[in-house]
Amino acid sequence: MLRVVVCVSGGGTNLQAVIDGVKAGSIRNTEIVRVISNNKNAYALQRAEENGIAAVCVCPADYVSREVFHQALLAAVEEAEPDLIVLAGFLVVIPQEMTARYRNRIINIHPSLIPSFCGTGYYGLRVHEAALERGVRLTGATVHFVDEGTDTGPIILQKAVEVKEGDTPEVLQKRVMEEAEWKILPQAIDEIAGGLIEIKDGKCRRTDQ
Ligand code: GRF
Repeated sequence: MLRVVVCVSGGGTNLQAVIDGVKAGSIRNTEIVRVISNNKNAYALQRAEENGIAAVCVCPADYVSREVFHQALLAAVEEAEPDLIVLAGFLVVIPQEMTARYRNRIINIHPSLIPSFCGTGYYGLRVHEAALERGVRLTGATVHFVDEGTDTGPIILQKAVEVKEGDTPEVLQKRVMEEAEWKILPQAIDEIAGGLIEIKDGKCRRTDQ
């Protein structure tokens, strides 16, 4: 069983897709052992509770410094003894100590086709605003491993989504979630649990191909 910790900050629709995947058996050999939020009001916490998953809030405002917050976050992760940490809309920059401790065991979902519209400052609706400003015809989502950079780690899966005439950032965000994020995040976890993903020379490779 792959022990998964999911880190969230907001609505938790990606968390829900993972919960549903585990329940339906499309994500195999996986158990969500804990949900961690940096935001007390995240609806994701309610989703965890409704599904009987242990959930904790580690909120920066409750700690005297960023460093102490980082220590608390790492402790909350370590207590759950995860094999994999899934950042599902987690708006906290992961401390270096955590990336080092869980190298190649942290994944993130990003709402664009990396390397477009990614890196510092590209999160949430801003990503979709930038895609619309540039006038791309295709956007999408990417699941990647997390390294020390922002959105720079090895790419596991990507899925393209069409941009349509008249799209607003909100409409595009919804389409990217429905058509890409909620599909490739569960799929990536299933493939990792199945031992299908390895990293070689800084890139992901499938072990069955
Ligand atoms: C998603 O768009 C995800 O790609 C981004 O943050 C958003 C989280 O949404 N990193 P939700 O909390 O999973 O609904």
